[in-house]
Amino acid sequence: MKFNRDIKIASSILASDFANFGQECQAIEANGCDWVHVDVMDGHFVPNITFGPETCKAIRPHIKTIMDVHLMISPVDCYIEAFVESGADIITAHIEAEPHIHRTIQEIKANGVMAGIALNPGTPAESVKEIIDLVDLICVMTVNPGFGGQKFIYSQVKKIKTLSDMIGDRPIHIEIDGGITPETAPLVAEVGADVLVAGSAVFKGGSVENPMVYGSNISAIRNAASAALR
Ligand code: DX5
Ligand code: ZN
Repeated sequence: MKFNRDIKIASSILASDFANFGQECQAIEANGCDWVHVDVMDGHFVPNITFGPETCKAIRPHIKTIMDVHLMISPVDCYIEAFVESGADIITAHIEAEPHIHRTIQEIKANGVMAGIALNPGTPAESVKEIIDLVDLICVMTVNPGFGGQKFIYSQVKKIKTLSDMIGDRPIHIEIDGGITPETAPLVAEVGADVLVAGSAVFKGGSVENPMVYGSNISAIRNAASAALR
């Protein structure tokens, strides 16, 4: 994938119909999403459980763009190989999930997959300082991870700006995850975010029978973010 800083909408299937992942992925892609964001939760690192590598493998053939796998699990290292085999393009692990996060990133990269690092709202921007040159993506959580549909935490905008300054012209994506809507998207785009994860705001009001709604929801987020850059 060629690096650019254009706004990308990563639709989170956490807000989709869990009995219909294949069709939901096809519907969001056909209606304009750039990446498919897949939230893996273990009931230990976060207080919710979703699914694992077998599910990722099953939905992979339905994704033509990028499968962006967000691991909210601890431990992480022992599962990396399984998620690589599931066909992930990007694997993002939480900096809070492993004592040896440097090793986690090395392991992801050694498998030829793009490596992301996610930061909970309580984790400072400076925590990435020693690993910044190893990662392809930094994901700033703008909610406490575990559930879709939560309120955006505004204090994170300043952190995104700090990270954006730290990154400078390095080819590292800044992904924002949680509470993204047409109202909050401009705030994060303005300070340098290029990948906007959105679950509820994409799937709201639509279905695989009525996927045009996904298209208008995606456009509304993208247009609001792009307007802030003009
Ligand atoms: C939260 C997940 C998010 C979630 C975002 O723990 O990592 O990806 O799906 O959902 P919304 O867009 O509804 O805040
Ligand atoms: Zn996520």
